[in-house]
Amino acid sequence: AASVFKTRRLDGIQLTITAGPTREAIDPVRYISNHSSGKMGYALASAAADAGAIVTLISGPTNLACPERVTRIDVTSAQDMLEAATSTLDHCQLFIGCAAVADYRPAIAADQKIKKDNDTMHIELVRNPDIVSTVANHAKRPITIGFAAETQDLLRYARGKLERKNLDLIIANDVSNTDIGFNSSENAVTAIWQEGQHTIPQMSKSQLAAQLINLIAEKFFAAKS
Ligand code: CTP
Ligand code: CA
Repeated sequence: AASVFKTRRLDGIQLTITAGPTREAIDPVRYISNHSSGKMGYALASAAADAGAIVTLISGPTNLACPERVTRIDVTSAQDMLEAATSTLDHCQLFIGCAAVADYRPAIAADQKIKKDNDTMHIELVRNPDIVSTVANHAKRPITIGFAAETQDLLRYARGKLERKNLDLIIANDVSNTDIGFNSSENAVTAIWQEGQHTIPQMSKSQLAAQLINLIAEKFFAAKS
C-alpha cells in the first residue's frame, strides 16, 4: 500500500525543457517580449532533476539561477530556441515546452537604432516557428508535452492545442487571474491528454512541478515490473 504514495521516478531519462520568454529584436536596443518569469519551467527542471532525469533547460532571458544538476542553454529569440531544442532531439526522450515563445517577430531587425522621425510607425511582424509542434512532429519524436496559456475557454482551447500540435499531454494554465500563473510564485493547472484530464489546485510552483513530474513519470515512464 505504501507504494501507492511512492514518488514516481525519471531515472536516466533525457529531458529537454524550454522556459521563460523569448525576445524578438526590433533594433539593437529594443525588442518584443512578454511577462513570463520562467519560474514554472525552472521548477519543472528542478523537480525532474530531483526525480533522476538528465535535464537540459533551454532558457530565454530570466532572472533565475540554474537549478542544481541541470544543464542550461541560454537563448534570446524564438529562432535561437528552436535551434537549441532541435539540437537535443538525437537523445531526447521527453520534451516539455514551457516557454512563452513570442508568436511573432519583426520582419526586419534594423541594424541601427530606429530614430523617432514620424508621428506614427509600423513594425511588420512575421510568425515565429512553433517549437513544441516542430518537436512533436519530428522523425525522432520524444514524448512531447506543451502548456496552454489562456485567458478564456481554458479547457476547450487547450484540447484544441493538444490535437493541433500533436502533443501527448498539455498543461492548461489560466492566465486571466493575475494572482497565479505567469509572473506569480503559485499556479493551478489542468493536465489534459487524449482520454482524460487531471486538475491540480493552486499551490507553489515547486510543489506543482513535483506533482506534474510525478504524473508524467507515472503516465509515460512507469517501470514495467
Ligand atoms: N509554443 C512553441 N512555439 C511557439 C509558440 C508556442 O513551442 N512559437 C508552445 C509553448 O511553449 C506552449 C504551447 O506551444 O507549450 C502553447 O503556447 P500558447 O502560446 O498557449 O499557444 P499558441 O499555439 O502560441 O496559440 P495562441 O498564442 O494563439 O493561443
Ligand atoms: Ca502563443
